[in-house]
Amino acid sequence: MDTLKIAIIMGSTREGRFSERPAGWVLGRLSKQEGVEAELLDLRDFPMPFYDSVATPKAAKGVYSNEIAQKWAEKIKQVDGFIIVTPEYNHGYPAVLKNALDWIYQEWNNKPVGFVAYGSVGGARSVEQLRQVAVELEMLPLRNGVHISWDAYTAIKEAPQPVDPKVFESLDWALDTLISELIPKTKVLKTLRNS
Ligand SMILES: Cc1cc2nc3c(=O)[nH]c(=O)nc-3n(C[C@H](O)[C@H](O)[C@H](O)COP(=O)(O)O)c2cc1C
Repeated sequence: MDTLKIAIIMGSTREGRFSERPAGWVLGRLSKQEGVEAELLDLRDFPMPFYDSVATPKAAKGVYSNEIAQKWAEKIKQVDGFIIVTPEYNHGYPAVLKNALDWIYQEWNNKPVGFVAYGSVGGARSVEQLRQVAVELEMLPLRNGVHISWDAYTAIKEAPQPVDPKVFESLDWALDTLISELIPKTKVLKTLRNS
């Protein structure tokens, strides 16, 4: 089996965002997995306008009206599986993330997606919403997720930079459980897409 390409998408583009800290931790742990090529995707590098295309993303069939969205599509097309690191904004997930999900379609199809979230209830509300959206994108949302509690969020936020991975120690088991669900499902879906 070829190397599995797994991307970590940061759901926040806000200045001073927290998301970089858990995303760095996820990248570090994922990169240790044999046969996995992990990459961090920053939506700041893909500043797409709010979706404004005449064609719906499904009808566009991989050819998008916006140059940055096309670059986003080419990037996502190469990826076999995803971990989205997301905050909770007003009990939902950030608009910038929804826009990035909405712009393209077939590039998401038949790929698994796991979630790492944070907030007052560990970002649980944004993850539940994202799971519903993932189904419509013909993705496979994973059951296991990482929910960083407010106490852990505060401790990680107050830790000196660069963040010592030890501050995530109590969450390692949850991330490892997510990864152990993600990898076999990424393999199976890659085989399905290639068949
Ligand atoms: C617009 C906005 C709305 C927020 N709403 C919530 C919320 O509903 N639930 C929650 O737990 N935290 C909420 N917060 C606090 C965020 O959890 C906290 O600011 C977090 O650091 C945001 O993630 P980021 O720094 O990666 O952007 C909100 C923050 C912002 C900026």
